Amino acid sequence: MTTLWRHARVTTMDGPAAWPGLDDGAIVSEGATIRWVGALAALPASVRAGVTDERDLGGACVTPGLVDCHTHLVYGGERANEFELRLSGATYESIAKAGGGIRSTVAATRAASDEALYAAAARRARELIAEGVTTLEIKSGYGLAAEHEARCLRVARRIGATLPVDVRTTFLGAHALPPEFEGRADDYVDAVCAMLPALHAEGLVDAVDAFCERIAFAAAQTRRVFEAARALGLPVKLHAEQLSDQRGTELACEFGALSCDHLEHLSAEGVAAMARSGTVAVLLPGAFYFLRETKLPPVQALRDAGVPIAVATDHNPGTSPVLSPLLMLSMACTLFRLTPQEALAGMTAHAARALGLADRGALRPGARADFVAWDVAHPHELAYRIGGNPRRLTVRAGAVVEDP
Ligand code: NIG
Ligand code: FE
Repeated sequence: MTTLWRHARVTTMDGPAAWPGLDDGAIVSEGATIRWVGALAALPASVRAGVTDERDLGGACVTPGLVDCHTHLVYGGERANEFELRLSGATYESIAKAGGGIRSTVAATRAASDEALYAAAARRARELIAEGVTTLEIKSGYGLAAEHEARCLRVARRIGATLPVDVRTTFLGAHALPPEFEGRADDYVDAVCAMLPALHAEGLVDAVDAFCERIAFAAAQTRRVFEAARALGLPVKLHAEQLSDQRGTELACEFGALSCDHLEHLSAEGVAAMARSGTVAVLLPGAFYFLRETKLPPVQALRDAGVPIAVATDHNPGTSPVLSPLLMLSMACTLFRLTPQEALAGMTAHAARALGLADRGALRPGARADFVAWDVAHPHELAYRIGGNPRRLTVRAGAVVEDP
């Protein structure tokens, strides 16, 4: 099927000049792929001749499908109790040190059945899909034992197999120290490295992540996880410099990391390392907001160095219980002073790059035909609204997505 999608303002996100987009734009998709994109008046007769189906988009704004490149969508339980504790003065780190935090979610995740994990994660994924997400990264990291990490990653794959969204999985075994390894962090890192080959052999791992932080893993331990990833040819990412500067970014960049994420405490050296290795900076305004952080990521330094900036929900129960990618565009602008254009690039082109996906995130010939038609007059409205979902229609791999 070759479809002409016409009567739209098409914002391709294919480079900085593509803003706000082509009026009277059109897209021709051939199967799952974009064949042509441009102003309708410039549609070549040869391409027109192959069109078998036409859809009028009613003057909507069209952007690439959103890519949420950092989520922890699969877990048991909730952590609203910790939200209350923090409001009365406890800190995220003190709660973690007292055995709450990630560990409490680990206990709830281990106790949950596969079905319960799937049902809860699918409910969350539907919320993201409803706001235009067509590609979604899901990390493990709440199982922290081979069997439970595998269960979580299988649930993540099942989300991709059953809902209209592409799922990329990331193994985050080095997220926190599970209670059975208390006082034996190095032994647990050995265990994490030992889990990886079997998970990879089962096709459950697209990338490997770690949490390099005072309350999690040291740089030397993170290095060992990255070496295990490299031995299997897997790309790495890192939760880096979120609460303090651990120089995790420099380490990740040594391994050619796809992305370093959070980055509130990133140093000038870290910025330079990212620029050299072409690593994407993934900013997570939901976690910044929810933890009421005050130290801003060095956005201007990242810009000046030409580091691509992505934006994601970081959906997780402890620091970012966020299911609205559009709200993250807004917060990226209000909290981090990104422009609406930068924010949208952060959830399309740069997010795809943070996942190592060259076939999406921008609307150009040869790319996947993943796009969203929005009831807005200008794409900057996507970052301006707080609440209210203007999505009219999602097209994924060339076909209209039915509400899941
Ligand atoms: O991305 N920083 C570490 N990981 C998560 C938080 C996980 C949790 O608290 O459950 C994050 O913010
Ligand atoms: Fe995270």
